[in-house]
Formats: sequence, C-alpha cells, structure tokens
Amino acid sequence: MLSIEEKALIDKEIAKVPIRKGASLKALMVIQNNHGYISDDHLRAVADYLGMSSTELDSIATFYNLIYRKPVGRHVIRICDSVSCWIMGYENIAKKICEHLEISLGQTTKDNEFTLLPAQCLGTCDHAPALMIGDELYRDLDADMAIEIISNYKTAPEAQSSSSRDQRCSAP
Ligand code: FES
Repeated sequence: MLSIEEKALIDKEIAKVPIRKGASLKALMVIQNNHGYISDDHLRAVADYLGMSSTELDSIATFYNLIYRKPVGRHVIRICDSVSCWIMGYENIAKKICEHLEISLGQTTKDNEFTLLPAQCLGTCDHAPALMIGDELYRDLDADMAIEIISNYKTAPEAQSSSSRDQRCSAP
C-alpha cells in the first residue's frame, strides 16, 4: 500500500527519532502530501510500517487538525473560532463565507475547490480575526476581505490581489 518513495521518505523521518512510532505525524504528512488525506487503508499501512496499532495512529491523526481523515478540496480554509477571533467577528465572517461557498463548516464545495474547517487559535490573536488557506495566514479580516481572498484563490491561486496581500503574512 505504501509506495517505495513513500517508504523512503518515512524512513528518513524514522532516522531522526529514537523509536519508529516517533515518526508517526511526519509519516502521516508524507501520505497526505501524496494523496490529499489519510484513508483507512493508508492509516493501517502506516501503522503497520511503524509497528503500532491503527487505533493508536488514528488517535494521533485525529488530534492534529492538519491531518485530514476525509477527502478535502484543493484549498483548505481553516477559520479560527477561538476567543479573540470570536470577539472580533468570527461568526459573521464564517456565515458570509458559508453563504459565498454554499456550504456549511466542515464541508467541501461541489467543485472540490474549497473545504471550510473551524480551527483553534492560529497564534495571531492580536490580529484577529484570522484564517488560513493552505499555509497562508490572513488576519485583520472582515467578511468582505475574506470573500475577496477566497475568490482570488478560485480565479487565480497564484495571483493574489494587492488588497489581499496586505492581509497576508507568514504562518506562525
Ligand atoms: S484566537 Fe484567533 S488567532 Fe488566536
């Protein structure tokens, strides 16, 4: 089930830690980078390769919100629903994004472009409200900015507009 290339990448991670299961998170990321999410079959294969049970590995996979156990869209939007963002307008922004994408939190658009997920604090509370799309962090948002940023991903993923770029910074 694991390809030779995947095993080689996982072996590199295993070499960095004292026990095989210590590489579990990195191994899951290797699979997710190749397949977009961690299927049950892949979970079993990685668990076998690391010498641990599927249940044990699944508990790690479900603990980390950057590991996806179901298929996700091309872009994953993670909107912070922790306290600072909540106070600064999370609810309205999330509602407007849901309306714009015609989905609810936790769902993927019909065209598989976007998955919208709630996220815990993104580490930029002083610039709340915030969201991430892939590895890009956007902050000091209002609903209109959030919609514009998302729209830019749909029409031209690499070409962010200058107004969107003002809200963008490196991930924490
Ligand atoms: S509460 Fe949203 S970034 Fe911290």
